[in-house]
Amino acid sequence: MLQLAEKTALVTGADGGFGRAIVSALVKAGGRVAASDLASPLNPEAQITLSLDVTRPDDWVGAVQQLTKQFGHLDILINNAGFAITKDFRETDLDDLERLMAVHVGGALLGMQAALPLMRSRGGAIVNICSIAGLVAAPPLAAYGAAKAALRGLSKSVAVTCAELDPPIRVNCISPGFAETAMLDGIAAALGEPDRVKDKLGRRQPLPGFVTPQEVAAAVVYLASDAAAHVTGADLVIDGGYSAQ
Ligand SMILES: NC(=O)c1ccc[n+]([C@@H]2O[C@H](COP(=O)([O-])OP(=O)(O)OC[C@H]3O[C@@H](n4cnc5c(N)ncnc54)[C@H](O)[C@@H]3O)[C@@H](O)[C@H]2O)c1
Repeated sequence: MLQLAEKTALVTGADGGFGRAIVSALVKAGGRVAASDLASPLNPEAQITLSLDVTRPDDWVGAVQQLTKQFGHLDILINNAGFAITKDFRETDLDDLERLMAVHVGGALLGMQAALPLMRSRGGAIVNICSIAGLVAAPPLAAYGAAKAALRGLSKSVAVTCAELDPPIRVNCISPGFAETAMLDGIAAALGEPDRVKDKLGRRQPLPGFVTPQEVAAAVVYLASDAAAHVTGADLVIDGGYSAQ
C-alpha cells in the first residue's frame, strides 16, 4: 500500500535538501514525478523538470499546461518550496512578513488551486511541508513561524473542503524539526558561529541528532499513498520529540 505505482506527482522546491529526497522517494515508490524549483532543477530521476516560482500565478498556469500535456492528470502535489528569514519579531518588517507569507502560504494556496482541476477525475493527495516553528516558539524565526502556522491552518480548511469532493482529495501537513539542509546552514550562519549553533540545535530534542530529509520523504510517500486513505487534515510532526517538551 505504500507503493505509488504510476501515480503522478509535482514537487516544488525540488532542488533543495528535502525536495531532492522527496523526488527520489516518490520515484522509488513507483511514482512519475515532475520536479520544479525557481530554476528548472537538474534531476535525472524526475520525468519532468520545470521552472516554477510558486508565488507567480503565471508560472502555475504554465506548470498546469505542461503537466496536462505530459501526465494528463495529477495525483500528488507536494508544496515544499520555502525559505527562512532569521529575525526576531523586533527586527521583522512588513516586507519580511509579506515575502514569507507569499511563498509559504500564497505559494501553497496557488498550488492547491492549480492542482484541483488536474485531480478532479481521480482524486488526489496534497502534502504541505510546514515546520515545528509553526507549532512552538522559534524566536529568531518569528515571521517564518507565523507563515508556517498559517499554512497549517489553511491546510486544514482545504482538507475539509476537498473531503467533500467525489473522489476526494486528501490534504495533510508534515511539520519537521531541524534538518541539515541549505536552509538550516543559512539560519545557523545568520545566528553567528554556525558550528556551535548547529551543535546546540542538534542536542535540543529528546531523540538526539537532526531529522533527515529521507525521514521526511518517507512520511511524504506514506501520506501520498493509499495506506493513508483516511488520513486528511493531519499534521505529522517529525521532530525527535522537540515539540513534546
Ligand atoms: N531544513 C529544516 O530544518 C526545515 C525544517 C522544517 C521545515 N522546513 C521546510 O522544508 C521545506 C524545504 O526546505 P529545505 O530545508 O529543503 O531548504 P532548502 O533551502 O534546501 O530548499 C528550499 C528550496 O525551495 C526553493 N524555493 C524558495 N523559494 C521558492 C519559490 N518562490 N518558488 C519555488 N521554489 C522556491 C529554493 O530554491 C530551494 O531549492 C521548506 O518549506 C522549509 O520551510 C525545513
